[in-house]
Amino acid sequence: MESNFDLVIFGGTGDLALRKLYPALFLADCDGRLHPQGRIIAAARQTLDADAFRAKVGEALQRFVPKVSGDSAAAQTARDACLSRFLDRLTYFSLDVNDGTQFQSLKKSLDERDSKTIFYLSVGPALFTAIINGLKLAGLNTAETRIVLEKPLGHDLASSRAINALVLDAFADSQVYRIDHYLGKETVQNLLALRFGNTLLEPLWNRTWVRDVQITIAETVGVETRGEFYDGTGAFRDMVQNHLLNLLCITAMEPPSSHDPDSVRDEKLRVLRSLKPWSQDTLRENIVRGQYRAGSMAGVPAVAYTTEEGVAAGSDTETYVALRTEILNWRWAGVPFYLRTGKRMAERKAEVVISFKSPPHSIFDSPLAPNRLVITLQPEENVRLYTMAKAPGDGMRLREVHLDLDFKEFFLGRRQDAYERLLLDVLRGNATLFMRRDEADEAWRWCQPVLDSWEQDGTPPLSYAAGSWGPAASSRLTAMAGTAWHEELGI
Ligand code: BG6
Repeated sequence: MESNFDLVIFGGTGDLALRKLYPALFLADCDGRLHPQGRIIAAARQTLDADAFRAKVGEALQRFVPKVSGDSAAAQTARDACLSRFLDRLTYFSLDVNDGTQFQSLKKSLDERDSKTIFYLSVGPALFTAIINGLKLAGLNTAETRIVLEKPLGHDLASSRAINALVLDAFADSQVYRIDHYLGKETVQNLLALRFGNTLLEPLWNRTWVRDVQITIAETVGVETRGEFYDGTGAFRDMVQNHLLNLLCITAMEPPSSHDPDSVRDEKLRVLRSLKPWSQDTLRENIVRGQYRAGSMAGVPAVAYTTEEGVAAGSDTETYVALRTEILNWRWAGVPFYLRTGKRMAERKAEVVISFKSPPHSIFDSPLAPNRLVITLQPEENVRLYTMAKAPGDGMRLREVHLDLDFKEFFLGRRQDAYERLLLDVLRGNATLFMRRDEADEAWRWCQPVLDSWEQDGTPPLSYAAGSWGPAASSRLTAMAGTAWHEELGI
């Protein structure tokens, strides 16, 4: 059982809280993972009474919590019982973050209890300063408290450093949990298990045997209700600077000496520090920036990005990025790492594809496709190894086949959502899956030349049709090295 807690969610009526945080906490509660006296306090500007707030969360749970599998009557009754227990944990605190006296009242209500306090900043970075100062001035930054910072952590290297300086003026870095929900995904954990719980792959996991690595996070959704936020952010800041770089680090890092937070984060940091710095040439040739125009998603017409609600007409914010980089160390020198993300893509999928080198000599007439290890994070969770095999019948005709490891088949039962796992980690005080300050800083430092070059250059992003795989130029990126994106190989 976890210890008693007060979780204060700033932005507690916002999209992320309703869509992700309450559903995750609710499911953890149903599994008996929350302390019976644990409280969840939403802090937001709106004036709402507790009942209206609970009704709002109740509706969000209806919409966003996956239905009980099989919908058996007993399971449903258990969920209903859990719902009333969960709603009883919720309180609402109306707060104007610019009014310091209101933090004093918050402190009073927290002081009455013997519990650990966690502040979750589920707000835009523009509000970080007021909240952190408010907490500090009210003396809410005791050594016992933890603070969770939701991405984006700043807009560029300078603003991220300013936020880190501000938060570290009030809290120790060990109290700060910088969240990147991709690190909480089950298959990302499995990538660690696959790499460091087995000996099979390690001898192959290097420049001698790996030809290239592709990491893709493709989404079919557009900007939904977040047009205004997204238009000021773009795919590079929203997905590359954090999710894609974290996946790259987990894929490429050296084996840590233990699973403790700093051993893992030290190794991730080394990868970030080894990323090939950008040059004028690589900025021009190794990165493709796109924006979706009108198209069709599974036969349904989809509007152009620039006509989405909240997006400025004529906006040149990118909704797609593909890039090629390298990791300058002995393990990886010379191996291309391709990173790619986009909205309104042909399919929703997040995967890491490791392509191995072709056999040095072939004794067969059939062409040999390189072996490929595909680790899929979503929509399915599986690992698939593509190998060559003899097709039945006369002669030696070889065909590509695959060995599949489907985690759902092996591990039955409900999967923890990424936010659920990470929130439980915060309650337990386990920071392994959260970004340390130096990691966040290093990721921004590598990204900054890209942002600067786009700003100076002023060239609009390339256009791609909604429902496609992005601008044609992204295929040229892989073709330069004689390869292709995974889906282009038709397997
Ligand atoms: C968020 C981004 O961090 O991740 C969103 O801000 C994106 O733009 C989302 O849609 C994707 O997360 P997931 O878990 O649905 O792949």
